[in-house]
Amino acid sequence: MNDHHYTGLIEKYRDRLPVAESTKVISLNEGNTPLIELRNLPVKLGWNHQIFCKFEGLNPTGSFKDRGMTMAVTKAVESGAKAIICASTGNTSAAAAAYAARAGIKSFVLIPEGKIALGKLSQAMMHGATVIQIRGNFDDGMRLVQELSSTMPLNLVNSINPYRLQGQKTIAFEVVEALGDAPDYHVMPVGNAGNISAHWIGYSEAAGRQCGSCNLCNGECAFKGVVISTKRPTLVGYQASGAAPFLRNEMVDSPETVATAIRIGHPVSWDLAWAAQKESAGWFEECTDEEILHAQKVLAESEGIFCEPASAITVAGLIKDIERNRYKSGSRIVCTLTGHGLKDPDTAISQSEAPVVVEATRDEIGAIIERHL
Ligand code: F0G
Repeated sequence: MNDHHYTGLIEKYRDRLPVAESTKVISLNEGNTPLIELRNLPVKLGWNHQIFCKFEGLNPTGSFKDRGMTMAVTKAVESGAKAIICASTGNTSAAAAAYAARAGIKSFVLIPEGKIALGKLSQAMMHGATVIQIRGNFDDGMRLVQELSSTMPLNLVNSINPYRLQGQKTIAFEVVEALGDAPDYHVMPVGNAGNISAHWIGYSEAAGRQCGSCNLCNGECAFKGVVISTKRPTLVGYQASGAAPFLRNEMVDSPETVATAIRIGHPVSWDLAWAAQKESAGWFEECTDEEILHAQKVLAESEGIFCEPASAITVAGLIKDIERNRYKSGSRIVCTLTGHGLKDPDTAISQSEAPVVVEATRDEIGAIIERHL
């Protein structure tokens, strides 16, 4: 094999991750996702910022969860685990199922009945997970998997597992490498809040801030002094209005949003996310379901980037906060687009014009083309 063949983020960032030489890596070559500069939307909306999308939907299972899952499953297997468990709004279950399949171990996933996007459900089922739909929401599932994994031979792979954040922090390394330094702002959706915490760990390490100084990594950081950036960005977290505990400053008991991935009211990384916001001098803001769907459509139509609703909240947030001048003029902004639009075909189809049906004749088709040219 060519030495330059990319084999996943653990191999690439071995020196900055808690793995030993002897650790058997479970990988699907995740990471190394494209950083795509927006070309049309900023012109259309008159923005004077340089905006990039880190398209995490191009990971092997279609979301950023693969970054954390390669680490969590690698460490689970290393510890001798034969089964993993998670609660999920969909993407974590897809990633857990895929990496468990790759490792040859069992996976159990708890999902809220009727509240996960079709693509994600199909993934967990295809990869052979035991899919358990609960009559409850993600937060109920989260509580249950913590209970179950403390009494049964199950390794918990939700982001409360510190190895998940270790894998996910590598997104910051990739952004710094691509841009040559950290951006001014990094914007992302916030649900269970592991991802914003992981971004902060990654950016802190990249800037030479040792594990512990940011009080974020639970002693699991494998900081080896690999300094690649001169600064850390301001982090901005967007939440759906119906599931916005960080905006309400308290847990939300019955979260609701069309962005089912972030339909979470009791985020487990509550303290870490607040620390990331404070240390980075960032902020949380909320967007309505309408704003989220509008942003998803605008991004797909004007840039050719199809992300899922939860990811589009970043663009919805930018539309709102750039208008209010919350971003310093001329900034470099990176948005994490956490999951692929194909994850949730129902939502995409329901907000798009239905295809016309015509006879298979040149005349009928020609007439339609004429009308749209
Ligand atoms: N975007 C997508 C597409 C997600 O699937 C999630 C979380 C988030 C954003 C929020 O990230 O939880 O780290 O703040 N999905 C989890 C799941 C909860 O089960 O797939 P977070």
